[in-house]
Amino acid sequence: MTRVPPTVEWSSEDGGVVRMIDQTRLPEQLLMLDCQDVECVAQAIERLSVRGAPAIGCAAALGMALAAHRSDATDTASLRGDLAAARDRLAATRPTAVNLFWALGEMDRVLDQYREAEIAQVREALLARAEEIVQDDLQRCMAIGRNALDLIPQGANILTHCNAGALATAGYGTALGVIRAAHEAGREIHVWVDETRPLLQGARLTAWELCAEGIPATLITDNMAGYVMGQGRVDCVVVGSDRIAANGDVANKIGTYTVAVLAGRHDIPLYVAAPVSTIDYDLASGDLIPIEERDHAEVSMLAHRVETAVCPDVAIYNPAFDVTPSDLVSAIITEKGVAVAPYAESLAAMRD
Ligand code: MRU
Repeated sequence: MTRVPPTVEWSSEDGGVVRMIDQTRLPEQLLMLDCQDVECVAQAIERLSVRGAPAIGCAAALGMALAAHRSDATDTASLRGDLAAARDRLAATRPTAVNLFWALGEMDRVLDQYREAEIAQVREALLARAEEIVQDDLQRCMAIGRNALDLIPQGANILTHCNAGALATAGYGTALGVIRAAHEAGREIHVWVDETRPLLQGARLTAWELCAEGIPATLITDNMAGYVMGQGRVDCVVVGSDRIAANGDVANKIGTYTVAVLAGRHDIPLYVAAPVSTIDYDLASGDLIPIEERDHAEVSMLAHRVETAVCPDVAIYNPAFDVTPSDLVSAIITEKGVAVAPYAESLAAMRD
C-alpha cells in the first residue's frame, strides 16, 4: 500500500514552508511542493497543485501563516499591510469553494484578537490557528464518514464524481471518507469512478486513492454513468461539494448536475458529503454561487498533452463547477449529522 503524505501541512524546514502534494503530477509521480512564500501557495491553488474545497481552505490558512512568517515587517502596522496583501492574493485564486473564504475569515479573527500583540505573537497565533484548521478538517472528515454509515448498505455499488478524497481535504476525504468508513466497517462495497473531464480528477486521483486503500473500484468515462445506472449497477451516488447554499443547492465539480439528474431518473439516492464550513449561509440559493471559468486549453486538450480540438475558430466554454438543485439531493452528510429536506431548516440547525 502506498504511504501517502499529508495533502498540505506546515513544515519548519528551511525557516518554515507550506508543504503539499503536487496533485498535478499524480498519479505518475508523488512529488512534494514546498512553498516559501504566499505567491507560491496562491499559484499552487490556481493550477490545482492543491485542490478540493477543504484542502484549498487549509492551504489558504497556512498561506497566511507563511506570509506572517516571511514578512520582514518590524512593526505591527507593516505586518498587517503584508497580511492584507496576502489575504487579497489568496482570495483571488479560485472563486467557488467557500472553504477558502471561510479559512481566510478564521485567520482575520485571529488578527482581530491579536490586535495589540507583538509581531512574534501574531505569527505564532496565525500558525497555531492554521494548524488547528488542518487538524479539525481531518476530524470532521472522519465524523462525516461515521455519520454516513447507516446510508451505505453491505454490498453497495457507489458512484462518485471528481475527487473528494484525502487529497481534497486534510486527509480521509468527504465523499471518499464516506466510502472509506464503510470499507473500514467491513462493508463489501464497490465504487464506480467517473473519470471527470476536463482535468480527470476521478481517473488520476480518486482511482489512485481507492487503489492505495484496496477498495474495489471501476473507472468509467463521464458519459457512461447513465448506462451503468440503467443496468441497475449503481445503488447510490456520493459526491463532495465546493459550496452549499442555505437552501441545500450544491455546487460541485462540473458534471455533478448531470449525474444528479441521471440518479433522479433511476431513483438512485444522491448523497452530498461536506463539512459545515462548505455551507454558505449567506447565499439563499445556488444561482448566487460564483462559478469559476478556467483556461480553454483544459477543454481543447486532453490532460494538457494532446490537442483534440483542431479547428482554431471553435468557441470553448469551461465552467469548472455546476449547481445541483436541492430537490435532487437525498441527504447532506456533515460532521454534525445527516441533513434532509427541507434543507433551509436542517442546515440552519447545523450552523457552528
Ligand atoms: O477543481 P477541483 O478539483 O478543486 O474540484 C474539486 C471538487 O469539485 C470536489 O468535489 C469538492 O471540492 C469537494 S472536495 C472534498
